[in-house]
Amino acid sequence: MYQSAVELPLIPSPTHLDAREGAWEGADPLAVLTCDITDELQDAEFELEVSEEAIAVRAGSNEAALNARLTLEQLSELCREGEKVRIPALILRDQPRFSWRGLHIDPCRHFLPMEELRRIVEVMSLYRLNILHLHLTDDQGWRIEINGYPRLTDIAAWRERTVIGHHNVKDPDADQYLEERHDGYYTQAELRELVAFARERGITVVPEIDLPGHMQAAIAAYPEFGTRPEVQHKVRDTWGVSEHVLGVSDEAFQFVKDVLTQVSDIFDAPYVHIGGDEVPRVEWENSPAVEAKLREWGLNEPGHVQQKYTEVAHAILAERDRAMVGWDEILEGKLPEGAVIMNWRSADTVAEAVRRGHDVVVSTAPTLYFDFPQSPDRETEPLAARWGGHVATLENVYTDQLLPENLTAEESARILGLQAQTWSEFIPNAEHLQYMLFPRLFALAERAWSENPPMFETSLERLPAHLEILERKGMRYRPSLNPWIA
Ligand code: ACM
Repeated sequence: MYQSAVELPLIPSPTHLDAREGAWEGADPLAVLTCDITDELQDAEFELEVSEEAIAVRAGSNEAALNARLTLEQLSELCREGEKVRIPALILRDQPRFSWRGLHIDPCRHFLPMEELRRIVEVMSLYRLNILHLHLTDDQGWRIEINGYPRLTDIAAWRERTVIGHHNVKDPDADQYLEERHDGYYTQAELRELVAFARERGITVVPEIDLPGHMQAAIAAYPEFGTRPEVQHKVRDTWGVSEHVLGVSDEAFQFVKDVLTQVSDIFDAPYVHIGGDEVPRVEWENSPAVEAKLREWGLNEPGHVQQKYTEVAHAILAERDRAMVGWDEILEGKLPEGAVIMNWRSADTVAEAVRRGHDVVVSTAPTLYFDFPQSPDRETEPLAARWGGHVATLENVYTDQLLPENLTAEESARILGLQAQTWSEFIPNAEHLQYMLFPRLFALAERAWSENPPMFETSLERLPAHLEILERKGMRYRPSLNPWIA
């Protein structure tokens, strides 16, 4: 057990920590916590004092007070001895570096039951991650109930079969399939409950409706939203990007409006993500309806259909006081003011976006793509993404350069934070997801919170205590901190 507060292996590592004499002992430190909101501290700042007699928080805002409480929850986990908790006396002062400390989950390629999402929310909050980005729609499954569109849940929420392992791009006929129905969706009531549950733990749930591409499941349910209503597609059962994208019918635009309106009602986040990534143009290039519509809009390239969707989505969300977030492809067109960028394809787009006046969430692949393996030794690792031959080791997540150099203060202020992605093509269930998350998620939490995150080597000493916390919670993780040893 920890004799002095200087020994505490907290993650994130606190900005200021003074050890004091003595320790608090009892069953539940959270039950005795007192809290004072004061304007003597900055909004995001808190001070947590643990002494033999009391545990007290002073905080600059309710949000900072909640972060103090979550810090105490982690202390309680670290300092637990059976039924008893013994926390060495301390004064801890802290505040987050970034306001966006995110984790992205993809329940489309493989569905994740709601109780598993909640377990992830609980662990995220212990490490003061504060954004859960839910990627709710894709070619392989639509996962959110939308009133007035019953076929989204009757048809688009399930597929007949699923390719096994990696899709064989060169020889699709060689693909093998699991001949089993794969399905699942969240009702609006369940999502509202998740929003409230996460909110109590300091986490905002940001929904993503990926458009105008990654829409094959919705188009399978409602062919009139696509470019060729006469063709009946199935929900996609392989990985890779579908060519079947939204068309330009009035029904398609009305659908986008209805979905974004209901989503803004279910989720209280100030942001709604509209995807915008990987949109093949081949259907637009071959559609007389698109050609006619472009003429009507005064636009001249098939690619401008995406720009139109971005504009329309932005206007719908702006009316509801929501900022629009999109993957970095939306930078390729004219982009409305206030749009937020998630860069994924390159670190360079971070600089481009902030220079053009957009806020950015740094989500760069491969470092922050936790669907890549944690070791270069793929043989010893579970199934994982392999495009580009990339890996994302714990050390990569701790040390890779993520922020551009030479930004002005104003440009730097546009970087909202960092986010890890867990695309689920190769993550078939909750246990596999947990393995891919940990311990890398600790590194992300540390970098997103701390102004000066500790060196990788010192971090390694703090990690085993956190793997024990995961163990007690029954969660899986990669047990070795060495990328070369399984
Ligand atoms: C992405 O990985 N398609 C954003």
